[in-house]
Amino acid sequence: MTVLVTGGAGYIGSHVVAALARAGMRALVLDDFSNSSRAVMPRLERLAGTHVPLVEGDVRDATLLRDTFARHPISAVVHCAGLKAVGESGERPLAYWDVNVNGSFRLAEVMGEAGVATLVFSSSATVYGQPERLPVDESAPLKPASVYGRTKRTVEDFLRDLAASNANWRIAILRYFNPAGAHPSALIGEAPRGRPNNLVPFLCRTAAGEFPELSIFGTDYPTPDGTGIRDYLHVDDLAEGHVAALRYLADHAGALTLNLGMGRGFSVLEVVAAFERACGRSVTKSFAPRRDGDIACVYADPARAQRVLGWSTSRDLDAICADAWRWQAAGGGYEKG
Ligand SMILES: NC(=O)c1ccc[n+]([C@@H]2O[C@H](COP(=O)([O-])OP(=O)(O)OC[C@H]3O[C@@H](n4cnc5c(N)ncnc54)[C@H](O)[C@@H]3O)[C@@H](O)[C@H]2O)c1
Repeated sequence: MTVLVTGGAGYIGSHVVAALARAGMRALVLDDFSNSSRAVMPRLERLAGTHVPLVEGDVRDATLLRDTFARHPISAVVHCAGLKAVGESGERPLAYWDVNVNGSFRLAEVMGEAGVATLVFSSSATVYGQPERLPVDESAPLKPASVYGRTKRTVEDFLRDLAASNANWRIAILRYFNPAGAHPSALIGEAPRGRPNNLVPFLCRTAAGEFPELSIFGTDYPTPDGTGIRDYLHVDDLAEGHVAALRYLADHAGALTLNLGMGRGFSVLEVVAAFERACGRSVTKSFAPRRDGDIACVYADPARAQRVLGWSTSRDLDAICADAWRWQAAGGGYEKG
């Protein structure tokens, strides 16, 4: 089967392409490279051991999508293309609603025309906001605290409406917790442009000397050490969750919503300590006030994914840090492109 991976050149999409190849599935990448590099493509081909076709363009472009479905034998779509920076989403709501929501509308519309009904969607734990109960399961109320989170909740609602309207649809909505780490080959990894928003890439670059210190935002949260707690999962575990979802959808119709997380939380200081062990260096830390929109603590109840897909994480925090550092030590990014 050929799986169209929108945003397949990005951090998660590239690991999904590699996981599909490991599972013997063919991938086709659609990406506009607005937040990624063309240089990822030959690396994906090395990992896949085969040609990985590319469609360069915008997921909102219905003509391009129609042409893509006409030219390629696509049987399923993994939709990772989107804008993802929580802070930026408040400053650029038009762009976030347009790319994330209209992009998903156009894609589903053209999939419907082409008779392709299997879709895995990249949602996010941000749809929960600060949950009332931990660990958070899929039935928890959705109270996203950012424009970004609201775009994800809206697409989720839309996809559930779609599945309710026509029994042909087979949709998996995957709520990612905090993906981190890199492929162990160090060929692909997270390569944020400019100042990273996420903890692990910031740690990598600080340990490599690119930044003088790591800013830890918030030390007065109601958590044991005062820093925020998140559920970090290895990006390869996350990517394999997509493969498991596609296998499940092969014989199950409807819309399925699943948390993908490790099922336990680590504080910022615990992640820093694990990272220092992995890279053998100590990282200078500075303590800053809480960031707007950040929450104290969230971690997943991943039991449904375990039960339904037979999926759970197999790589621990030490593996996340070791692989992230290996990627950083190999350059931590791609050639310009
Ligand atoms: N990384 C995380 O922590 C995280 C957590 C939860 C959910 N997600 C979601 O997972 C998905 C992938 O995230 P990521 O971390 O890989 O981000 P990323 O920015 O690395 O990847 C997104 C890819 O989509 C492409 N893209 C953006 N707009 C596009 C458009 N209009 N048309 C075509 N391509 C476009 C970008 O060039 C990039 O290659 C996103 O939908 C994101 O919201 C990410």
